[in-house]
Amino acid sequence: MDAFVVRANGPLSGTVRVCGATKNAGLKQVAAALLAPGVTLLRNLHPVLDLDAMLDVMRAIGAGAEWTGENELTIDASGPLTPEAPYELVTRMRASINVLGPLLARCGEARVAMPGGDNIGSRKLDMHFRGLQAMGADLEIVHGLIEARCRTLCGARIVLDFPSVGATENLLTAAVLAKGQTVLDNAAREPEISDLAAFLNRMGAQISGAGSSTIEVDGVESLTPIENEVMGDRIEAGTILMACGVAGGEVTVEGTRLDHLEMVALKLGEMGLDVSPTPDGLTARCDERMHAVDVATLPYPGFATDFMPLVVALLATVVGSAIVTENVFDNRFGFVDELHRMGADIRNEGRHAVVRGVDRLSGAPVRAQDVRAGAALVVAGLAADGETRVLDPYHVDRGYPDLAGQLHALGADVRRVRPPA
Ligand code: EPZ
Repeated sequence: MDAFVVRANGPLSGTVRVCGATKNAGLKQVAAALLAPGVTLLRNLHPVLDLDAMLDVMRAIGAGAEWTGENELTIDASGPLTPEAPYELVTRMRASINVLGPLLARCGEARVAMPGGDNIGSRKLDMHFRGLQAMGADLEIVHGLIEARCRTLCGARIVLDFPSVGATENLLTAAVLAKGQTVLDNAAREPEISDLAAFLNRMGAQISGAGSSTIEVDGVESLTPIENEVMGDRIEAGTILMACGVAGGEVTVEGTRLDHLEMVALKLGEMGLDVSPTPDGLTARCDERMHAVDVATLPYPGFATDFMPLVVALLATVVGSAIVTENVFDNRFGFVDELHRMGADIRNEGRHAVVRGVDRLSGAPVRAQDVRAGAALVVAGLAADGETRVLDPYHVDRGYPDLAGQLHALGADVRRVRPPA
């Protein structure tokens, strides 16, 4: 059966290299390549399911998308483009909404299916829409399609209600070719935004302030395709840190930056995992069972919501009790019932969960419900008696190219089993 199969195998030890941040940074750069007529080359991308879906979206739009080397992808946006992302593709992967800004900027029109909600919350798009409207776009939802058009996009001052990652990205990629200056206030500050802005600037855009709450964009006439290397995956790095917390041991993670993981490292440090920088990443060490510390998720530089299921899995195994508060998504605790199957002691109500560490989890068949929840179940299995089978592993495959291989390289007994072809 298709699953991750996990057994506890003692402390982790060794070095792994993280992949590129394909899901949370790469997909956005693939979409942004639509802004530059010609051939863009992106390096440090890895084959994950969400990238497959994004490449299908690009092809539907009329852009070429080919692997031209190991972890090297070529996007040919020479045109002509068909500015439409259909429902069947958009529902495979939410980040296809990221083509809206580039298509409007390049083609003056876009038809993108509404993605709808998903397993972690309602995931509205109102800030994307209000920002594009402020730049002069007409937008309506017709038969489930966002129909957007504009004669000219014009720079505007836009204040986001909340520092939404997706809205910041869509507005940034629309503003780069708009007439005049756009100021985005209360913008998301995630490193993936800075990586996108650096990519766009290298293509000729005029963006300043990315990584802070106020981003200024001076629109330019056109962008030129370039070669770019996508940043290392900080969420994958953090996942390995959490695994080290659960299993104990000492690991070195290469290809990432401790300053992208500061809050996670701080919290894990309070819990008993020492994390320190190395020239190309970080190293972490945990000598004894960790202890509980409260955690509340917040936009960057706060504790990322994507680590929440992982930290809940970790807290389920430590000494003491902690309160975990989810402030970003409204329905991200669905995985708690799966951890209950493994003997975890967690009480969840609304946006809060009280997690009481137990001496030992017990392996069980469990089901992944989204990418990080699935990773959290794999990590929990590292400290469980007997076998844990994480079913519906395709959720994990959406964002992690080889989680089992990486944990295995550190000595964990984790296998990704697949049904016979
Ligand atoms: C990105 O999603 C990531 N996805 C998510 O990663 C991540 O959890 C999230 O940012 C927060 O860091 C990708 O990069 C592909 P948001 P995004 O817009 O952009 C509300 C993972 O596990 N909101 O910052 O969709 C929204 O409902 C995933 O890797 C509005 O109300 O996140 C949510 O509650 C899952 N109106 C909050 O803001 C809007 O117009 C944050 O959403 C937009 C968002």
